[in-house]
Amino acid sequence: MVKNLFIAFEGIDGCGKSTQVKLLVEKLRQSGHRVYVTCEPTGGPIGSIIRDIFNHRTEADHRTIAGLFVADRLDHLLNKKDGMLKMMEEGYTVITDRYYFSSYAYHGAHMPMDWVIESNSMSAGILRPDLNIYIDISPEVSMQRLHAGRSSMELYETMENLTRVRSKYFEAIEKLKLQEKIFITEGDRSPENIAAEIWAEVSRIESTASIKD
Ligand code: ADP
Ligand code: TYD
Repeated sequence: MVKNLFIAFEGIDGCGKSTQVKLLVEKLRQSGHRVYVTCEPTGGPIGSIIRDIFNHRTEADHRTIAGLFVADRLDHLLNKKDGMLKMMEEGYTVITDRYYFSSYAYHGAHMPMDWVIESNSMSAGILRPDLNIYIDISPEVSMQRLHAGRSSMELYETMENLTRVRSKYFEAIEKLKLQEKIFITEGDRSPENIAAEIWAEVSRIESTASIKD
């Protein structure tokens, strides 16, 4: 029996999270994991309010958005239908495309990061990732990829903002390095190279988790 894991993917927009999630899922399934893939903002009621704001259908202050993510995350963890806690209890390895480090970086760019960390402390107390995978790309590469892929930009997808968000990611990683397991990988390489590095790290975490049990 393999030990189920909780893994969060992080990075600025277009860093390659979705691509790497898919590649990691294949590897995990081959090695015997039942895998549940999810993301934030969620597809739930609070997530849909957030998406309306990002797509400019409705407006909200940055502090309101930060608060909505706190609620969306708790729902993501606790909802009885397909909440991450329930999936973990059922033995799934859960992979989420974004978790609380996204809040630290994206909202820390607009308000004190300590407030953001504190307001997410309940989620961190409920479920802390066995591994946070941060895929690093420059804001220039991010903007190139985003412009190549679509015609309209979401709220936080500007060069200036992504530059701030990237530096806030590094600030949060440094601040929390003792509490959190964080793996940083360079995202401006071939998807296969990145996937191989991620798989090596996940395999290492998996073997440590099995020894602990
Ligand atoms: P995210 O989920 O972080 O937004 P995606 O995986 O959707 O990122 O990738 C964003 C865009 O960049 C897509 O068009 C994807 O094909 C491309 N892409 C992903 N990984 C790489 C990579 N390592 N090198 C070049 N392009 C990539
Ligand atoms: P996402 O759909 O993952 O976008 P992408 O695939 O382009 O990375 O995330 C949507 C946006 O939500 C993204 O700009 C980051 C933002 N976000 C926050 O601002 N705070 C958060 O807590 C989370 C989880 C995401």
